[in-house]
Amino acid sequence: MTTTIFVGTSFGDEGKARIIDDLSENATMVVRSAGGANAGHTVVVNGKKTIFKLIPSGILREGVKCVLGQGMVIDLITLTNEMEALEKSGVNFKDRLFISDKAHVVTYEHKDIDAKRNKLIGTTKRGIGPAYEAKISRRAKRLKEVLGSRSYGKGTDLIRKCVAPNTSFLINKEIANGGTVFLEGAQGTLLDIDHGTYPYVTSSNCTAGGACTGTGISPLKIDKVIGITKSYLTRVGNGPFPTELVIPTEADWLRERGHEYGSVTGRPRRVGWLDLPLLKYSHMINGFTSLAMTKLDILSGKEFIPVCTGYSNMSFSEFDIDKLDSVDPEYSFLEGWREDIAQVRSWEDLPKNARKYIEFVEAQVGVPIDFISVGPERSQTIRR
Ligand code: IMP
Ligand code: MG
Repeated sequence: MTTTIFVGTSFGDEGKARIIDDLSENATMVVRSAGGANAGHTVVVNGKKTIFKLIPSGILREGVKCVLGQGMVIDLITLTNEMEALEKSGVNFKDRLFISDKAHVVTYEHKDIDAKRNKLIGTTKRGIGPAYEAKISRRAKRLKEVLGSRSYGKGTDLIRKCVAPNTSFLINKEIANGGTVFLEGAQGTLLDIDHGTYPYVTSSNCTAGGACTGTGISPLKIDKVIGITKSYLTRVGNGPFPTELVIPTEADWLRERGHEYGSVTGRPRRVGWLDLPLLKYSHMINGFTSLAMTKLDILSGKEFIPVCTGYSNMSFSEFDIDKLDSVDPEYSFLEGWREDIAQVRSWEDLPKNARKYIEFVEAQVGVPIDFISVGPERSQTIRR
């Protein structure tokens, strides 16, 4: 009987879908509020990997309803392919999947423009920027306007069956009726169009506020905001990254251990250490009630784990996201652990230094870390 927003604390790929999938056994509805097929949300259930681009991962749980909110930009071809693949693996959409007829449509032209533009940002080329531009300038088409049109190709039948006129009413009703609603964020706080590392950002609000505007839920209806962070940091695409590992052999070690390749584009992700000033900033913007830390198992075997605790030339009180390019990170080196922790399921069974790592981050950010994942499978989670 709660409404929870899940937000990426950093540059996306924090493992949001993985945590949401795990916790959604108690959910009645999972909603996406912003972004489009630039997202790649990986979930592994019984060894079977599914990468979601548009549909909330909650669709894998039978009783859970899923909504694509009006803040999204939807590529109908990708959505059709995603629906067809899910249908093949036995997922039923009837009375479970609701696509806002007010969500905007990504066209061939948008993707074309995105692919041809200069490579400054390093976008996913999924037409996201051009689609939001068209939306903001009020010349774009929404789902309801294109559904009758042939030019949007195959598959609209499959989609048409799930298009709903009033998804904001649907979600509000679910909350009023005592449902447990999850708002599934895409991308991450530092990619937010207003609060991220502009211009190296995506074109939507991927912070907690965006979850309300993209769906039509009052901020007063939100009970929890859970921030998802990895135990280290990654970024795909260009833009500042103060704790990035620039020595190739060091970066390779973390990238290979963590399988850090883009799930949408296959690009090798840039990797680095946890950056606490950025995490604190993210907390300020979103107001996390708790954190989930994913991929703790990836750090096993490292003798000392660097964590950036501040910047020597910029205190947190003068923090400015636009000055990340010139900050000088200061590190604490926390003692690591040797044990493989993939099979650990309780806090007490974690190696002492793994617990210390978690407690250190909690104390610095001032938010409890209530969920820890130690592997990609649904069950590989520690709840405190
Ligand atoms: P766009 O969203 O495709 O316009 O890309 C803008 C920036 O956001 C690029 O740096 C992308 O790599 C990044 N980005 C967009 N979506 C994701 C995501 O789901 N995970 C990680 N990075 C993303
Ligand atoms: Mg991703």
